[in-house]
Amino acid sequence: MRDFSASVAKDKEQPSDFAREKFDLTNFSAYQAWREKKLAEYPTSADELIVNLADLGQPTEGEKSSIIAMCRRAGMAIYHVNVQSTFAQDPDVLRPDIRKFGAALGLGDTETHRSADDDGIVAIEVTQADTRRGFIPYTTRALSWHTDGYYNPVSSPIRGMLLHCVRPAAQGGINALLDPEIAYIRLRDKDPAMVAALMHPQAMTIPESVEEDGSVRPVSVGPVFLIDKLGRMTMRYTARTRNIHWREDHDTRAAVAFLNQLLAGEEEPLIIKYRLAENQGLISNNVLHTRTAFENGESAARLLYRVRYKEQIAGT
Ligand SMILES: [Fe+2]
Repeated sequence: MRDFSASVAKDKEQPSDFAREKFDLTNFSAYQAWREKKLAEYPTSADELIVNLADLGQPTEGEKSSIIAMCRRAGMAIYHVNVQSTFAQDPDVLRPDIRKFGAALGLGDTETHRSADDDGIVAIEVTQADTRRGFIPYTTRALSWHTDGYYNPVSSPIRGMLLHCVRPAAQGGINALLDPEIAYIRLRDKDPAMVAALMHPQAMTIPESVEEDGSVRPVSVGPVFLIDKLGRMTMRYTARTRNIHWREDHDTRAAVAFLNQLLAGEEEPLIIKYRLAENQGLISNNVLHTRTAFENGESAARLLYRVRYKEQIAGT
């Protein structure tokens, strides 16, 4: 077993080195130690992910610790708010509470999104509103595997994402969830060359697109696995096959095919499926996810609030 004490001592001056070592493709022992712990601690059911909250806007220290501990294990947690009165569900109370909850976990800085209201929250619902019309998230259709903001420039990735369920669909709208660190482990175990290919700065190209409001989102070129100087990994990925260009080399093709098999083929046993219920939400370091198609009821339609953050959850 490798002695890490020297690294830890050096760590005090440069906190990034130790955390980065596990992603160093030449450092087998650091990777193995991290991998073993990650797989041993990873939750195997959605029930394990659930943390109860008494008040969304003011999580207690204990509640925050539980969420952070779960996010260290799985990159995500599902919170369940024990709502005592309908007052807490009033959007004028709920929306600020969602932002306060995120802020209590170090998530303050949100992205600027064409569909976001002034508070940085996007309502995920079936809509004809101009800025959202025609985009699949705002229809009843299924969403394939992706991380949010995979098309963002490498300089401003989406590191955190929160989804709060106001009303589930009458049927469907189930999310499949997987920590990108598990996908990384599966790829590296199969062939480290596939990881290297997905860390290439030109691995994935999302062409320029013109938004409904006429603004242009420039071409985005970058790696799938983005490791920052603190050793935190963000995955930029979409299973879509249109409007995406993969770097043309053998290892990239093999890696994309492998990921597709793992995720869409559901060969990964650690994929967790869950349908968020009313007053529940997902808080995550932008994990891989899907959504099944859904049907709205006659009287009530599915409504989720989403916030995308530039930061990861504090302490994870
Ligand atoms: Fe998403």
